[in-house]
Amino acid sequence: MGIATNGYPSLEEIKQANGWPTEERFAKGPVAIIECVQEIPCNPCEDACKFKAVHLGDPITNLPRTDFDKCNGCKVCIPACSGLAIFVVDKSYSETEATVSFPFEYVPLPKKGDVVKGLSRAGEFVCEATVTQVLNPKAFDHTAVLTIAIPKEHADVVRTIQRLNVAEYVNHFRPVENYSSIEDDTVVCRCEEITAGQIRKAIKEYAGESVTGLKRRVRCGMGLCQGKTCGTLVTRLIGEETGRRSSELVPAVDRAPVRPITFGELVGTSEGGGECE
Ligand code: SF4
Ligand code: SF4
Ligand code: FES
Repeated sequence: MGIATNGYPSLEEIKQANGWPTEERFAKGPVAIIECVQEIPCNPCEDACKFKAVHLGDPITNLPRTDFDKCNGCKVCIPACSGLAIFVVDKSYSETEATVSFPFEYVPLPKKGDVVKGLSRAGEFVCEATVTQVLNPKAFDHTAVLTIAIPKEHADVVRTIQRLNVAEYVNHFRPVENYSSIEDDTVVCRCEEITAGQIRKAIKEYAGESVTGLKRRVRCGMGLCQGKTCGTLVTRLIGEETGRRSSELVPAVDRAPVRPITFGELVGTSEGGGECE
């Protein structure tokens, strides 16, 4: 049971991948808990922490680890994490309650004092929660940081809240078809730095109608993430340019290994090698 089967990490995976504070550390005050268990090319958490409490290093696919003694629970890393995978837990909040701070990108935002529904990593109801702080400065770039107070026994389980007034807000959303298309200078494949304009040009020049064909022409999908990030957008661009539905297009062909590896690792002659995925 874990992220591969459930879509969210298990407590065991988190402890193994990112570390977990001791109860003594929890008793001292708020502390960041990183729940990022997959080796993705990403590291803003490391730069965001000016107390040097987050270590990721080289290569960029390393898993982040927290130095719990250096972390003071300032919450700055929460909105910096592109994966919304950082939480700050304060088990010293009161005798009976702990607080959990987490990223929240939905509208409307709750207000301090609101009673809301605390949900688990799986999105299941755990307990009632009281909002104690709502941080949403411009510097957080639309990723608000909410803090809720919950019964202490749920501090390792509750990681978000149920969205507010969902039915009311659904009516405000415009259908996807009404959104303007992706600008030509927008980078679609971040790994290879390929823009939407370059992909459109390739679709026209080579009559490219498959993700794999475009991959060979302009390298979109050939980067470190192997197209996991850009594949859907490339498919959408092909659909827009050719007037076909994405379900009619030839999907990308995924092949092992899931991450790039060196020949040395493949044949087992370099350190840490000998096994491939
Ligand atoms: S909560 Fe603050 S001190 Fe702790 S890891 Fe995040 S940015 Fe660093
Ligand atoms: S910024 Fe977030 S998603 Fe990226 S490596 Fe750090 S914890 Fe993981
Ligand atoms: S974004 Fe990673 S290969 Fe395109």
